[in-house]
Amino acid sequence: MKINKSGAQLSAIVKIAQRLKKLSKDTGQEYLPLNRGINSVCHIDLTEVVKGIDFNCAEIQVYPPSTGRANLKEAINKVYFQEKAALENIIVTGGSTVGLDISFQVLDIDKIYIPAYYWTTYDQIMRIRHKDSAVYQSYDELKENLPALKNAGVIICDPGNPLGDKYDDQKLLELIAALSNNGIKVLLDSPYRRMFYDETDTFYRELAELENVVIIESFSKCVGLSGQRIGFVHCKNSDFIHEFSVRLVSATNGINAFSQVLVQKLLAAPEGIKAVKEFKSRTVRDIGLNIEYLQEKNLLAEQFYRKSKPVGIFVAAALTQEELLSHFIGSISLSYFTRNDKE
Ligand SMILES: Cc1ncc(COP(=O)(O)O)c(C=O)c1O
Repeated sequence: MKINKSGAQLSAIVKIAQRLKKLSKDTGQEYLPLNRGINSVCHIDLTEVVKGIDFNCAEIQVYPPSTGRANLKEAINKVYFQEKAALENIIVTGGSTVGLDISFQVLDIDKIYIPAYYWTTYDQIMRIRHKDSAVYQSYDELKENLPALKNAGVIICDPGNPLGDKYDDQKLLELIAALSNNGIKVLLDSPYRRMFYDETDTFYRELAELENVVIIESFSKCVGLSGQRIGFVHCKNSDFIHEFSVRLVSATNGINAFSQVLVQKLLAAPEGIKAVKEFKSRTVRDIGLNIEYLQEKNLLAEQFYRKSKPVGIFVAAALTQEELLSHFIGSISLSYFTRNDKE
Protein backbone atom coordinates (compact mmCIF):
# COMPACT_ATOMS: atom_id res chain seq x y z
CA MET A 1 0.00 0.00 0.00
CA LYS A 2 1.45 3.38 -0.97
CA ILE A 3 1.17 5.87 1.85
CA ASN A 4 1.53 9.65 2.05
CA LYS A 5 3.92 9.62 4.98
CA SER A 6 4.01 12.85 6.98
CA GLY A 7 6.86 11.85 9.28
CA ALA A 8 4.74 12.88 12.29
CA GLN A 9 5.19 10.71 15.38
CA LEU A 10 3.04 9.73 18.33
CA SER A 11 3.75 11.92 21.33
CA ALA A 12 6.63 11.29 23.75
CA ILE A 13 4.05 11.58 26.52
CA VAL A 14 2.54 8.28 25.41
CA LYS A 15 5.99 6.65 25.47
CA ILE A 16 6.69 7.82 29.05
CA ALA A 17 3.37 6.38 30.19
CA GLN A 18 4.24 3.06 28.54
CA ARG A 19 7.68 3.03 30.20
CA LEU A 20 6.16 3.66 33.65
CA LYS A 21 3.62 0.91 33.14
CA LYS A 22 6.39 -1.53 32.21
CA LEU A 23 8.60 -0.48 35.15
CA SER A 24 5.66 -0.93 37.54
CA LYS A 25 4.87 -4.35 36.11
CA ASP A 26 8.50 -5.56 36.12
CA THR A 27 9.35 -4.35 39.64
CA GLY A 28 5.98 -4.43 41.41
CA GLN A 29 6.79 -0.88 42.57
CA GLU A 30 4.07 1.78 42.45
CA TYR A 31 5.01 4.95 40.51
CA LEU A 32 3.42 8.36 41.06
CA PRO A 33 2.27 9.39 37.57
CA LEU A 34 2.96 13.14 37.67
CA ASN A 35 3.36 12.97 33.89
CA ARG A 36 -0.41 12.71 33.62
CA GLY A 37 -2.78 15.65 33.36
CA ILE A 38 -5.10 16.54 36.18
CA ASN A 39 -8.14 15.30 34.31
CA SER A 40 -6.71 11.80 34.30
CA VAL A 41 -6.33 11.93 38.07
CA CYS A 42 -9.24 13.86 39.56
CA HIS A 43 -12.57 13.35 37.77
CA ILE A 44 -15.65 15.54 37.68
CA ASP A 45 -18.62 13.92 39.47
CA LEU A 46 -21.43 13.64 36.89
CA THR A 47 -23.83 11.56 39.01
CA GLU A 48 -26.53 14.22 39.30
CA VAL A 49 -25.96 15.59 35.79
CA VAL A 50 -26.59 12.36 33.86
CA LYS A 51 -29.91 11.84 35.69
CA GLY A 52 -31.27 14.77 33.69
CA ILE A 53 -30.31 13.33 30.29
CA ASP A 54 -32.87 11.40 28.21
CA PHE A 55 -30.92 8.92 26.11
CA ASN A 56 -34.02 8.03 24.08
CA CYS A 57 -34.42 11.49 22.59
CA ALA A 58 -33.71 12.45 19.00
CA GLU A 59 -31.25 15.12 20.03
CA ILE A 60 -28.85 12.40 21.20
CA GLN A 61 -29.65 9.67 18.71
CA VAL A 62 -29.63 11.48 15.35
CA TYR A 63 -27.13 13.66 13.46
CA PRO A 64 -26.37 16.92 15.25
CA PRO A 65 -26.60 20.33 13.52
CA SER A 66 -23.46 20.84 11.43
CA THR A 67 -21.77 23.56 13.49
CA GLY A 68 -23.19 22.58 16.87
CA ARG A 69 -26.44 22.48 18.83
CA ALA A 70 -28.07 25.87 19.26
CA ASN A 71 -28.61 25.58 23.02
CA LEU A 72 -24.96 24.59 23.52
CA LYS A 73 -23.82 27.63 21.53
CA GLU A 74 -26.14 29.80 23.62
CA ALA A 75 -24.65 28.36 26.81
CA ILE A 76 -21.10 28.93 25.47
CA ASN A 77 -22.02 32.50 24.60
CA LYS A 78 -23.32 33.08 28.12
CA VAL A 79 -20.46 31.43 30.02
CA TYR A 80 -17.54 32.58 27.84
CA PHE A 81 -18.69 35.83 26.21
CA GLN A 82 -21.30 37.34 28.58
CA GLU A 83 -23.79 36.86 25.69
CA LYS A 84 -21.95 39.42 23.55
CA ALA A 85 -20.77 37.06 20.78
CA ALA A 86 -22.81 36.27 17.68
CA LEU A 87 -23.90 32.62 17.71
CA GLU A 88 -22.93 32.21 14.05
CA ASN A 89 -19.31 32.99 15.04
CA ILE A 90 -19.17 29.99 17.39
CA ILE A 91 -18.55 26.49 16.04
CA VAL A 92 -18.63 23.40 18.23
CA THR A 93 -15.56 21.23 17.52
CA GLY A 94 -14.22 17.83 18.46
CA GLY A 95 -11.80 19.46 20.93
CA SER A 96 -8.94 21.91 20.53
CA THR A 97 -6.81 19.48 18.54
CA VAL A 98 -9.45 19.55 15.81
CA GLY A 99 -9.82 23.33 16.24
CA LEU A 100 -6.09 23.81 15.72
CA ASP A 101 -5.86 21.39 12.80
CA ILE A 102 -8.66 23.04 10.84
CA SER A 103 -7.46 26.56 11.71
CA PHE A 104 -3.99 25.67 10.37
CA GLN A 105 -5.64 24.48 7.15
CA VAL A 106 -7.91 27.48 6.74
CA LEU A 107 -5.61 30.41 7.52
CA ASP A 108 -3.57 31.68 4.58
CA ILE A 109 -0.32 32.25 6.47
CA ASP A 110 3.37 31.61 5.70
CA LYS A 111 4.45 30.57 9.12
CA ILE A 112 3.13 29.77 12.60
CA TYR A 113 5.01 31.10 15.62
CA ILE A 114 4.92 28.93 18.75
CA PRO A 115 6.24 29.58 22.28
CA ALA A 116 9.76 28.42 23.25
CA TYR A 117 8.20 25.72 25.48
CA TYR A 118 5.13 24.30 23.80
CA TRP A 119 2.66 21.44 23.47
CA THR A 120 4.43 19.29 20.89
CA THR A 121 1.27 18.20 19.10
CA TYR A 122 1.52 21.59 17.35
CA ASP A 123 4.58 20.15 15.57
CA GLN A 124 2.72 17.05 14.45
CA ILE A 125 -0.25 18.97 13.07
CA MET A 126 1.98 21.50 11.31
CA ARG A 127 4.01 18.72 9.75
CA ILE A 128 0.91 16.95 8.47
CA ARG A 129 -0.54 20.22 7.12
CA HIS A 130 2.78 21.38 5.60
CA LYS A 131 2.98 24.56 7.68
CA ASP A 132 6.31 26.20 8.48
CA SER A 133 6.91 27.19 12.06
CA ALA A 134 9.26 29.29 14.17
CA VAL A 135 9.71 29.81 17.89
CA TYR A 136 9.29 33.04 19.86
CA GLN A 137 11.17 33.36 23.14
CA SER A 138 8.93 35.89 24.87
CA TYR A 139 5.88 38.10 24.41
CA ASP A 140 8.25 41.11 24.34
CA GLU A 141 9.95 39.60 21.31
CA LEU A 142 6.60 39.42 19.49
CA LYS A 143 5.76 42.99 20.42
CA GLU A 144 9.09 44.28 19.14
CA ASN A 145 8.85 42.46 15.80
CA LEU A 146 5.34 43.17 14.56
CA PRO A 147 6.35 44.12 10.96
CA ALA A 148 8.35 40.90 10.54
CA LEU A 149 5.32 38.83 11.51
CA LYS A 150 3.12 40.29 8.79
CA ASN A 151 1.98 37.06 7.08
CA ALA A 152 2.26 34.86 10.12
CA GLY A 153 0.10 33.25 12.75
CA VAL A 154 1.00 33.25 16.44
CA ILE A 155 -0.14 30.69 19.02
CA ILE A 156 -0.78 32.03 22.51
CA CYS A 157 -1.13 29.46 25.29
CA ASP A 158 -1.68 30.99 28.74
CA PRO A 159 -1.34 29.39 31.26
CA GLY A 160 1.15 27.50 29.14
CA ASN A 161 1.67 23.82 28.64
CA PRO A 162 4.19 22.60 29.86
CA LEU A 163 5.32 25.46 32.14
CA GLY A 164 1.96 26.38 33.70
CA ASP A 165 3.11 30.02 33.51
CA LYS A 166 0.41 32.70 33.68
CA TYR A 167 1.04 36.22 32.36
CA ASP A 168 -0.78 39.43 33.24
CA ASP A 169 -4.14 39.54 31.39
CA GLN A 170 -4.03 43.25 30.61
CA LYS A 171 -0.59 42.92 29.01
CA LEU A 172 -1.74 39.87 27.06
CA LEU A 173 -4.82 41.71 25.78
CA GLU A 174 -2.63 44.61 24.65
CA LEU A 175 -0.22 42.27 22.89
CA ILE A 176 -2.98 40.32 21.14
CA ALA A 177 -4.69 43.55 20.07
CA ALA A 178 -1.38 44.84 18.65
CA LEU A 179 -0.86 41.60 16.74
CA SER A 180 -4.41 41.54 15.40
CA ASN A 181 -4.35 45.23 14.44
CA ASN A 182 -1.19 44.57 12.44
CA GLY A 183 -2.89 41.82 10.44
CA ILE A 184 -1.16 39.00 12.32
CA LYS A 185 -3.41 36.00 12.97
CA VAL A 186 -3.62 35.03 16.61
CA LEU A 187 -4.58 31.50 17.59
CA LEU A 188 -5.50 31.58 21.24
CA ASP A 189 -5.07 28.00 22.43
CA SER A 190 -5.40 28.30 26.20
CA PRO A 191 -7.40 25.28 27.36
CA TYR A 192 -6.14 25.58 30.97
CA ARG A 193 -7.32 29.15 31.48
CA ARG A 194 -10.92 28.37 32.39
CA MET A 195 -9.75 25.98 35.11
CA PHE A 196 -8.93 29.16 37.03
CA TYR A 197 -11.74 31.52 35.94
CA ASP A 198 -15.53 31.43 35.86
CA GLU A 199 -18.22 33.06 33.72
CA THR A 200 -17.39 36.54 35.08
CA ASP A 201 -14.07 36.45 33.17
CA THR A 202 -14.23 39.01 30.31
CA PHE A 203 -10.99 38.00 28.54
CA TYR A 204 -12.68 36.11 25.69
CA ARG A 205 -15.35 38.74 25.24
CA GLU A 206 -12.68 41.37 24.71
CA LEU A 207 -10.73 39.15 22.31
CA ALA A 208 -13.89 38.26 20.39
CA GLU A 209 -14.08 41.82 19.11
CA LEU A 210 -10.70 41.57 17.35
CA GLU A 211 -10.70 40.83 13.62
CA ASN A 212 -7.68 38.48 13.42
CA VAL A 213 -8.16 36.39 16.53
CA VAL A 214 -9.29 32.77 16.56
CA ILE A 215 -10.26 31.51 20.01
CA ILE A 216 -9.78 27.77 20.24
CA GLU A 217 -11.29 26.24 23.38
CA SER A 218 -11.69 22.82 24.89
CA PHE A 219 -13.84 21.09 27.46
CA SER A 220 -11.03 18.60 28.07
CA LYS A 221 -9.42 20.54 30.91
CA CYS A 222 -11.82 23.06 32.47
CA VAL A 223 -14.57 20.50 33.00
CA GLY A 224 -12.23 17.49 32.88
CA LEU A 225 -13.94 15.76 29.95
CA SER A 226 -11.03 14.93 27.62
CA GLY A 227 -12.76 11.64 26.80
CA GLN A 228 -15.77 13.40 25.31
CA ARG A 229 -13.69 15.13 22.57
CA ILE A 230 -15.48 18.44 22.50
CA GLY A 231 -14.58 22.12 22.39
CA PHE A 232 -15.40 25.20 20.34
CA VAL A 233 -13.92 27.85 18.10
CA HIS A 234 -14.84 31.53 17.88
CA CYS A 235 -13.81 33.93 15.14
CA LYS A 236 -15.30 37.21 14.01
CA ASN A 237 -14.28 36.73 10.41
CA SER A 238 -17.17 35.26 8.40
CA ASP A 239 -14.93 33.80 5.65
CA PHE A 240 -12.94 31.95 8.30
CA ILE A 241 -16.14 30.64 9.89
CA HIS A 242 -17.52 29.49 6.53
CA GLU A 243 -14.38 27.63 5.45
CA PHE A 244 -13.85 26.17 8.93
CA SER A 245 -17.45 24.90 9.05
CA VAL A 246 -17.22 23.25 5.63
CA ARG A 247 -14.01 21.44 6.52
CA LEU A 248 -15.27 20.40 9.95
CA VAL A 249 -18.49 18.98 8.55
CA SER A 250 -16.66 17.19 5.72
CA ALA A 251 -14.38 15.51 8.24
CA THR A 252 -16.89 14.74 11.00
CA ASN A 253 -20.53 15.17 9.86
CA GLY A 254 -21.08 16.98 13.16
CA ILE A 255 -19.75 16.59 16.69
CA ASN A 256 -20.98 13.76 18.94
CA ALA A 257 -24.47 14.74 20.07
CA PHE A 258 -24.20 13.13 23.52
CA SER A 259 -21.10 15.17 24.39
CA GLN A 260 -22.93 18.32 23.27
CA VAL A 261 -25.97 17.57 25.45
CA LEU A 262 -23.70 16.75 28.40
CA VAL A 263 -21.61 19.91 28.12
CA GLN A 264 -24.72 22.05 27.65
CA LYS A 265 -25.99 20.68 30.97
CA LEU A 266 -22.64 21.43 32.63
CA LEU A 267 -22.76 25.03 31.44
CA ALA A 268 -26.45 25.78 31.90
CA ALA A 269 -28.30 23.36 34.24
CA PRO A 270 -28.06 24.01 38.02
CA GLU A 271 -26.75 20.47 38.74
CA GLY A 272 -24.13 20.87 35.96
CA ILE A 273 -22.98 24.28 37.16
CA LYS A 274 -22.63 22.83 40.67
CA ALA A 275 -20.60 19.82 39.45
CA VAL A 276 -18.23 22.07 37.47
CA LYS A 277 -17.79 24.45 40.38
CA GLU A 278 -16.89 21.63 42.75
CA PHE A 279 -14.51 20.02 40.24
CA LYS A 280 -12.72 23.29 39.55
CA SER A 281 -12.39 24.46 43.14
CA ARG A 282 -11.04 21.09 44.32
CA THR A 283 -8.65 20.80 41.39
CA VAL A 284 -7.34 24.35 41.60
CA ARG A 285 -6.87 24.06 45.35
CA ASP A 286 -4.86 20.86 44.99
CA ILE A 287 -2.73 22.17 42.12
CA GLY A 288 -1.96 25.21 44.29
CA LEU A 289 -0.93 22.99 47.19
CA ASN A 290 1.37 20.99 44.90
CA ILE A 291 3.07 24.16 43.64
CA GLU A 292 3.42 25.52 47.19
CA TYR A 293 5.03 22.25 48.23
CA LEU A 294 7.58 22.50 45.39
CA GLN A 295 8.34 26.11 46.31
CA GLU A 296 8.80 25.33 50.02
CA LYS A 297 11.25 22.55 49.15
CA ASN A 298 13.10 24.72 46.60
CA LEU A 299 12.12 22.26 43.89
CA LEU A 300 10.38 24.67 41.53
CA ALA A 301 12.49 25.71 38.51
CA GLU A 302 12.11 29.40 39.40
CA GLN A 303 14.01 30.65 36.34
CA PHE A 304 10.90 30.03 34.22
CA TYR A 305 8.67 32.21 36.38
CA ARG A 306 10.49 35.56 36.61
CA LYS A 307 7.88 37.44 34.54
CA SER A 308 4.98 35.10 35.10
CA LYS A 309 3.23 33.23 37.88
CA PRO A 310 3.36 29.44 38.16
CA VAL A 311 -0.30 28.41 38.33
CA GLY A 312 -0.30 24.96 36.71
CA ILE A 313 -1.80 22.67 35.77
CA PHE A 314 1.79 21.55 35.06
CA VAL A 315 4.94 23.24 36.37
CA ALA A 316 8.67 22.74 35.83
CA ALA A 317 10.51 21.10 38.71
CA ALA A 318 14.25 21.63 39.16
CA LEU A 319 14.96 17.91 38.87
CA THR A 320 15.62 15.68 35.91
CA GLN A 321 13.25 13.01 34.66
CA GLU A 322 15.75 10.33 35.72
CA GLU A 323 16.19 11.81 39.21
CA LEU A 324 12.44 11.79 39.71
CA LEU A 325 12.20 8.28 38.31
CA SER A 326 14.77 7.06 40.86
CA HIS A 327 12.23 8.22 43.48
CA PHE A 328 9.42 6.38 41.66
CA ILE A 329 7.89 9.55 40.23
CA GLY A 330 6.84 9.81 36.58
CA SER A 331 7.48 13.10 34.76
CA ILE A 332 8.33 14.37 31.31
CA SER A 333 11.62 16.11 30.63
CA LEU A 334 11.30 19.74 29.53
CA SER A 335 13.58 18.86 26.62
CA TYR A 336 10.58 17.18 24.98
CA PHE A 337 8.78 20.50 24.90
CA THR A 338 11.36 22.71 23.24
CA ARG A 339 13.46 22.90 20.10
CA ASN A 340 16.43 24.83 21.37
CA ASP A 341 18.06 24.93 24.77
CA LYS A 342 17.34 21.24 25.25
CA GLU A 343 19.96 20.93 28.01
C1 LIG B 1 -2.04 23.47 24.94
C2 LIG B 1 -3.01 22.41 24.58
N1 LIG B 1 -3.84 22.62 23.54
C3 LIG B 1 -4.74 21.69 23.18
C4 LIG B 1 -4.82 20.48 23.85
C5 LIG B 1 -5.81 19.43 23.38
O1 LIG B 1 -7.10 19.71 23.72
P1 LIG B 1 -8.29 18.74 23.27
O2 LIG B 1 -8.33 17.61 24.24
O3 LIG B 1 -9.48 19.62 23.35
O4 LIG B 1 -8.02 18.29 21.88
C6 LIG B 1 -3.97 20.21 24.91
C7 LIG B 1 -4.00 18.91 25.60
O5 LIG B 1 -3.14 18.49 26.28
C8 LIG B 1 -3.04 21.21 25.29
O6 LIG B 1 -2.20 21.01 26.31
